[in-house]
Amino acid sequence: MENVDYEQNNGNEYDFENRVVAPEYEAEDAEVENPLRPRTLSEYIGQEKVKENLSIFIEAAKQRKESLDHVLLYGPPGLGKTTLAGIIATELGVNLRITSGPAIEKPGDLAAILTNLSAGDVLFIDEVHRLSRSVEEILYPAMEDYALDIITGKGQMAASYHLPLPKFTLVGATTRAGQLSAPLRDRFGVVLRLELYTPQELARIVSRSAKILGIPIEADGALEIAGRSRGTPRIANRLLKRVRDFAQVISGGTITCESARIALDRLEVDSLGLDANDRRMLRALIKFYNGGPVGLETLAAAIGEEAVTIEDIYEPYLMQIGFLNRTPRGRCATAAAYEHLDLEFPGREGSEQQKLF
Ligand code: ADE
Repeated sequence: MENVDYEQNNGNEYDFENRVVAPEYEAEDAEVENPLRPRTLSEYIGQEKVKENLSIFIEAAKQRKESLDHVLLYGPPGLGKTTLAGIIATELGVNLRITSGPAIEKPGDLAAILTNLSAGDVLFIDEVHRLSRSVEEILYPAMEDYALDIITGKGQMAASYHLPLPKFTLVGATTRAGQLSAPLRDRFGVVLRLELYTPQELARIVSRSAKILGIPIEADGALEIAGRSRGTPRIANRLLKRVRDFAQVISGGTITCESARIALDRLEVDSLGLDANDRRMLRALIKFYNGGPVGLETLAAAIGEEAVTIEDIYEPYLMQIGFLNRTPRGRCATAAAYEHLDLEFPGREGSEQQKLF
């Protein structure tokens, strides 16, 4: 298959592993004691609707001296789902236990976790859509009745046990609410959708992080980093650390608009936060499929990516900045995307774009 040009990389394959704008976890982000993580709702910047609702539910549960209802957090990666689970536990004054869907392999693994919880504790399950069916079945009565239903033995030796559990709060996180089974989804009393952050919110996060890390930064410098962080705090904090290195060498340590710009250009993150992968996908859509509409699977195959990667990682931001539309007939690049890539927008007659306006 023909490769779309791997720009600015001397024709070599793009280095996916070291993508500085990847919203996925890396070891340094995942540190539980990461000092950049806000600990309370008042320290948490952005997601105003989510914070307002959560603070009411938390306050009400505390007043009634009950455990908080189970909470489902969903949205693109890197927006602070784990951080919010930690905040929920802190605000409730209880322990937080962190695990993930793929880490719970057998029903017994989940049973061990559940029986070790204390009353009121928060159990955070990341990637909750990846729980196996047999594990999910243990989870239903645990969520609903705070009980473990276990069957041992076979045939005449079979016995069933109904073991009471402490009242806990499950906080589930997923990038794909649509992949959650209906019975699991229905058992979450609180469902909260996280949105990509605005550049202004990200600039406040960058300034806060810089202060914690002792990095001098000017307001324009924070905004420059924010504007190139794809609406994602995890990316903003990662770019801040990389830009610091450049600032140290080229502007006496202070991150200014100018030093941030030079650094981010060197990191090949463009003025809107697109990296070579985003541009490669848009170019494929434009060059191979005349800007669309093209089906997700077809586009994924053309650039050698998984459809879920495109949906979870590339598309949310490209749609937010108005570069991509999802239409019933497939994905379409917009005139703004053509312009950003310095390509001429054909303004096709009867095209999806024209029909939209
Ligand atoms: N660091 C990462 N995400 C944050 C947020 N939403 N608010 C404050 N600091 C953060």
